[in-house]
Amino acid sequence: MILGSEPGRGSEPAAGARRIGVLISGRGSNLQALIDAISEQRLDAEVAVVIANRPDAPGLERARAAGIETLTLAHRDFASRDLFEQALVSELRARRVTLVCLAGFMRLLGTTFLDAFPNAILNIHPSLLPAFPGVSAQEQAWLHGVKIAGATVHLVTADLDGGPIVLQAAVHVREDDTAETLAARILIEEHRIYPEAVRIVLQANWKIEGRRFVRV
Ligand code: GRF
Repeated sequence: MILGSEPGRGSEPAAGARRIGVLISGRGSNLQALIDAISEQRLDAEVAVVIANRPDAPGLERARAAGIETLTLAHRDFASRDLFEQALVSELRARRVTLVCLAGFMRLLGTTFLDAFPNAILNIHPSLLPAFPGVSAQEQAWLHGVKIAGATVHLVTADLDGGPIVLQAAVHVREDDTAETLAARILIEEHRIYPEAVRIVLQANWKIEGRRFVRV
């Protein structure tokens, strides 16, 4: 059993332990939701750094506009995934990041990264997991013909999109939906639940039981 506070460590958070690192690859609308929640004082945290694996990720501009430090670590510049992850860990540790938020980060993370932040990496996924893991989840759900779709925030483990679920939100599928209109309504829910999930994880009152995230 792991008690969460300083995530994954099982103790009260140290001063300054609410330092988040956000990893992005693209437009960064979930990053923006986190930035907005912090600036509107719905989330008591600080984004210490935003790291993109693509220099052209539009989300980098959102971070700069909010006065947040940005870095680009292009995975192609590293000889192996392990070296890429070592660099990510080193940059995050240098900024005393205690919780990593993946926000549309399109690289699989291996043990080098996962072991550096046990139970302290969150991801937002646009489906009601465990349904429709992987890419294009909204389109997968629409093509499948589900009547209820949604979004999930979960802790990241070696199991792709399979870590303990922190929060979910449901979205009804309309008869006239396309994959795109459905994705747009799911995105609204993503922006609502991601800051809320970060707030929950930064609190001291949760534990992992089996594969369940349980609030105590
Ligand atoms: C979101 O749909 C998120 O659920 C998925 O990737 C997309 C990222 O969008 N993991 P954005 O970059 O946050 O706008």
